[in-house]
Amino acid sequence: MVGRRKASTARNPENMASRNRLLLRALQGHATERPPFWLMRQAGRYLPEYRKLRAETGSFLELCLTPEAAEEVTLQPIRRFGMDGAILFSDILMVPYGLGQKVAFEEGRGPVLEPIAAAEGLAALDRNGFHERVAPVYQTVRRLSGSLPEETTLIGFAGAPWTVASYMLEGGSSRDFAVIKSWAYGRPEAFARLIDLLVETTSEYLIRQIAAGAQAIQLFDSWAGVLAEPALRRWCLEPSRRIVARVTEAAPQVPVILFPRGAGLLYDAYAAEGGAAALSLDTTVPLGWAAERLQPKVALQGNLDPIVLVQGGEALEQEMRRILTALSGGAYVFNLGHGIVPQTPPDHVSRLSELVRGWKRPQGQAITAG
Ligand code: CP3
Repeated sequence: MVGRRKASTARNPENMASRNRLLLRALQGHATERPPFWLMRQAGRYLPEYRKLRAETGSFLELCLTPEAAEEVTLQPIRRFGMDGAILFSDILMVPYGLGQKVAFEEGRGPVLEPIAAAEGLAALDRNGFHERVAPVYQTVRRLSGSLPEETTLIGFAGAPWTVASYMLEGGSSRDFAVIKSWAYGRPEAFARLIDLLVETTSEYLIRQIAAGAQAIQLFDSWAGVLAEPALRRWCLEPSRRIVARVTEAAPQVPVILFPRGAGLLYDAYAAEGGAAALSLDTTVPLGWAAERLQPKVALQGNLDPIVLVQGGEALEQEMRRILTALSGGAYVFNLGHGIVPQTPPDHVSRLSELVRGWKRPQGQAITAG
């Protein structure tokens, strides 16, 4: 396995105890002197330099598939704000694209896919050509592995099978998830074949990102929250658990973060059974409960409301203090509860960065205190 920081660790193991790779240490379960931070969707349209590059590169898909450009976009927020983690610039819909499904991103409409309509559509998905089609993503990771600052952790990612399948079957974003639910409840055998295919492809995809230099992994299950408990366990938790097991077997040193957005009380089941090093909390998860029930088992990440970051000012400071006080006693990574939105003023992100950097973990604070 290659990776600049792996090599330097081999030479100098006590680096692990320094402020280097603050994010990795938190994800590995350690309370750090200050919480590391990064922001979901930290590269993107709220940055003028992103909008400029995007205008020059043509389609969004082309941007994701051009390693030099995707590398540059990944680095943009790191240069401005110095996050402790850099998330690979790509999209969760790279997996359907890699399987040969038609994927496009339309201005003002979001993603548009040619929906898989039936068993024949399923059979037409081409697993053999996958790695070749997504090879530029691996190249982007390899480039970043050489260009990122030493102390910045490189985060690879994928969508969880349920969320990715929703785009594959619905043909884009959905309001009621009627199509995918008709598969899950009406033809569970065919649906299980799609989920199994996604478990296998996504595991391999993540293992290749790690081989190219990714040091942590996040699995986005943005639409876990639309299912009832038994269905959520079967179609979200169980496939995610299988991916975590596969990735962890291949790369035990790489922490995996699960983000089952909207899972509510079932975050508890993710902590107990998911097998991941960390859970990313959506904005609605109560922090006292999370500190008491989840943090003794896994590192936590989250969960500032992205719209509070748009608001800024006193509201931002108050919410950040509330979150930091509740969670920074244990293993914790500051982040949003969902992706940053395009109308976010970059100045507010600077303020956020200043506040996290200035935060001191209360001395001797127990995990459940505060
Ligand atoms: O976090 C990062 O900065 C890395 C890049 C990243 C993107 N998408 C870039 C992107 C990541 C991690 C994602 C994940 C993603 N993509 C998710 C899971 C997280 C979440 O937000 O729930 C989902 C559901 C998608 C699918 C997707 N991609 C949608 C629904 C859209 C359209 C809505 C939108 O935000 O525009 C996209 C497009 C997309 N992905 C953009 C970016 C920067 C905007 C494309 C553009 O520049 O026009």
